[in-house]
Order: sequence, then structure tokens, then C-alpha cells
Amino acid sequence: MWGFKGHRTTGYVQMNVSLAVLLLIFVNAVLAQNNQSETASADCSIDVLTAPSGNITSPGYPESYANNLDCVWIISRPSDQVIVITFHQILLHETPSCLNDYLEVYNGDEKFTGRRFCGGRLPPNFAASRSNVRVVFHSDDSRSFKGFYLSWTSTARCSTNQYTCWDGECISDGLQCDGIKDCSDGEDEIECVYQASTPGQCGKVSVAPQFTWDPRIVGGNAAVPGSYVWIAMITKNDGTLQCSGTIINHNTILSAAHCFSDPRTAPSILVVYVGRYDINGSQGEQKLEIASVVVHEDYRSPHKGSDIALIFLVRPILFQSTVRPICLPSLGQFELIEGTQCIAVGWGQLEYEGAIPDRLYQVRLPITNQNFCNISYSKEDTPLIDSQLCAGDLTKGAKDSCLGDSGGPLSCLFGDTWYQVGVTSFGIECAIPGFPGVYTKVSSFQQWIQDTVADSENVYKLFTYKLATASATSSLSCYLFSITSF
Ligand code: ARG
Repeated sequence: MWGFKGHRTTGYVQMNVSLAVLLLIFVNAVLAQNNQSETASADCSIDVLTAPSGNITSPGYPESYANNLDCVWIISRPSDQVIVITFHQILLHETPSCLNDYLEVYNGDEKFTGRRFCGGRLPPNFAASRSNVRVVFHSDDSRSFKGFYLSWTSTARCSTNQYTCWDGECISDGLQCDGIKDCSDGEDEIECVYQASTPGQCGKVSVAPQFTWDPRIVGGNAAVPGSYVWIAMITKNDGTLQCSGTIINHNTILSAAHCFSDPRTAPSILVVYVGRYDINGSQGEQKLEIASVVVHEDYRSPHKGSDIALIFLVRPILFQSTVRPICLPSLGQFELIEGTQCIAVGWGQLEYEGAIPDRLYQVRLPITNQNFCNISYSKEDTPLIDSQLCAGDLTKGAKDSCLGDSGGPLSCLFGDTWYQVGVTSFGIECAIPGFPGVYTKVSSFQQWIQDTVADSENVYKLFTYKLATASATSSLSCYLFSITSF
């Protein structure tokens, strides 16, 4: 669900002071009162930083760091403040498990992301849940590189009768889920229950999605079970993950064309699960066999567009509170306003070429400026077309879908209903600044979806008729095969 990679930053001034620890604590306390910002000392003693904001770099940055360093910085803020860490650059000797040179960041005693950072991949930014953040930097006696540069800011923690907006703003609890967007990005209406009035009603959830303010939120984090009722997992018949899809009606799953382009993953060896949460299977899930897959006839490769496919199931899905369809927008029904927070979900990699999670993950992604995104991808010789859309943080990266998430939804809340605006299609690695993920724009394919679903309904009618008249079922499979293209 996310990944990261280094990028260049400019305009940074390094300050060089060398003081004893105790003196530093004192000086920093004074700084905290008088100054808005603080720069960590560049020697390698323990440095306690108490200002509301500041920078930490490896000693000598942007020149190479020295060998054999062990540096510790502690950012300490009053408990009514939240420390927000932004990583600007990291360029350290890359070795397996980061044994040689590394950066570690602790939220209180908990190691952020559970691992060390080295090489050039930028760690995701995070808002600490503790009032102390410890930054540890180690270099050994082998090769040295440019180092790292991070900054912190602090914002007031919301009180217990307040709701924390995703940008840290506090609103009164009563304003959440009241039908009015109070947070700047409208997220106070996202983490809400929208009850369905019929079992098959689309875009409704009985369990609210939740994005907690803990260190894992900036990339993706585990979804609350049952909060994405329309998600379908597509696996090979050996149980391994192939792609995701979404329930759009009682017997149809929407997915990406590229999930079916490899002859080794013919639909006959694929299975669909709905009601699944744990990657290896959940109680109450439904296993569904595939009758046919229709890949869009214009599909050639993900970046050329039309990366969309429909899967028709042998038997209908049983709708229940945890299994329901998502609504599909029609062309021009909603304006996709830049900055609108939408959500991608899946069981894909947690970082580029990294591990896959054990549960369903979610990541909130703002709709990006389509022109900027197109300019980025054009430089890579893969210009985008109108029926594709980008979501993610254009400049910072750090949030994205990733390998394995394909075919899954990018969904946005409009009023009191969830709509699928995108199908996860492709990106460049994952979460690289400047390259948000690219999604197939669902509204551009409204007619195609309608026509293809109608065709399949006719096939089902034919099927039922033939069964009723006891004709050979094989003619059905011939017909199904003829509408299947890869
Ligand atoms: N093509 C990938 C898949 O098959 C999904 C890639 C999405 N990549 C991204 N950086 N958003 O799972």
C-alpha cells in the first residue's frame, strides 16, 4: 500500500555548535521559548531538542558524514503537543538489514515502522503519538554518503471531546458525521457509518472506516474489518494474491485489465473472495467461481489506458452487512476536485518490493492536479489520457497503492454514499515524489460497463433458458469463451 524513495531538497542551512549535554538542554529550553525553530547540533553527543519545530541532519550534511558515528537526538514536547516528522532526504550506505549505516526513529520506545532506514528510500512522514521522538544515526568504518535531513513541527493535540482532522486541526466531536464537512478535507464525514436501506444498496457501510493518528497513518494502515464491504480478492487457485476487484452488482466484479493479461493466470485458475479481510481467509467470506472475464477491447498496456475488466461470477453474491456493492459514478456526475481525500485499499506491498500485509490495508490519497501528474508521466514517455486519473501526494510521495493493489478501488465519499472513481492501474515503483498512482477513471467507462453487464445478463438468461430446456451446457461455455478476450 505504500513505498518511498529519496528526492533532492534545497535551501537548507546547516549550523555547527558543540555544547555539553546539560548546557544543551538549557540552551534548547531557552530556544524553545524564544524561537520558533531550532537546528540540531551537528556533533554526535545526545541532543535534546525542545523547540516547536526544527531540523535534524547527519553531521556535515549536505557533505558526506564521517565514519564511526553514533548520534542521538531527542525531540521532546509537552504532552498536549503532537510532533510531526517530515523526512526530506536520506542517502546512507545501503546494505541488507541496514547493518552498516542506518537511521532509526523511535516514537517513545516504539521503533517507527519497526525497522532501520538506509539507502535512498525516504521513510514515510509521521505524527508521533508520544511526546518524545528519538532519532538514532549510526555510521561504521566503511563507505559514507550524503546523509539525511528531517524536520519536525508540533501542533496542539486535540482534547478528548474533539475530533482530530487529518491535518491535525481540532473540531468539536458533535461536528463529526453530521453531513457537513468541517475539516478542511472533509474527513470528518469519511469516518462514519452510512446504513443501507436494502441489502444490495451500493456505497453504504455499517462499519465506519478509521484512520488513527498513530505512526503508521502516513503511508497506509490496516483497515477496520468490515469497513470496505465491496472489496473482492482475486487469487490464483493455489491461494496466492493476484489482484483486487470490487463488487458492482450481484454477479459482477470490476477489476483491471492487466490482472488478466498473462496467459499463465487464465480466469480458469482464478477465484474471487468477498467478505475477506485477513489475507489468508476470514470467517463468513464467500468463495466465488468465475464464469467469464471481459477485458476492455482497447486495452494494450496499463499506461495506454482502458485498464479495466469485468468478472462475471458463476453464482450470485449473497449480500449482507459486510458484503455489498460500491456505486459507480456516471460521466460528469461528480467533479473530481484537486485535494479531495479518497481512499485506496488492498493487500498489496507495504513498500516497493516490500512485504505484503496480513490484513486489508487502506491509504487516503488526495486527488492530484491532473496536469502536473500528466507532465510527470510524459517525461517518462508514458503520457496520461483523459480516462486516467492520479491520486496521491504529488510532491511528497510517501502515500500510494503498490504492487498487488491493482484492480482495487479508489473510492470517494460524495454526500452519504461511496463511489468508486478509479481502478488501481499503475505507477512508477510506489510512492515516489512526483509520481502519484494512476487509476482508470471509472466514469469514462460507464457506457462500456453498462453494455458489458447487459450482455452478460443476456448470457445468463440464455444459460437459464438452456438449462430449463435441458440443452447442452457446453454451448454456454462456448458462448462465454467467445466474449472473453485477454
Ligand atoms: N500494477 C500494480 C499491480 O498490478 C499496481 C500498481 C500501482 N502502483 C502505484 N505506484 N500506485 O498491482
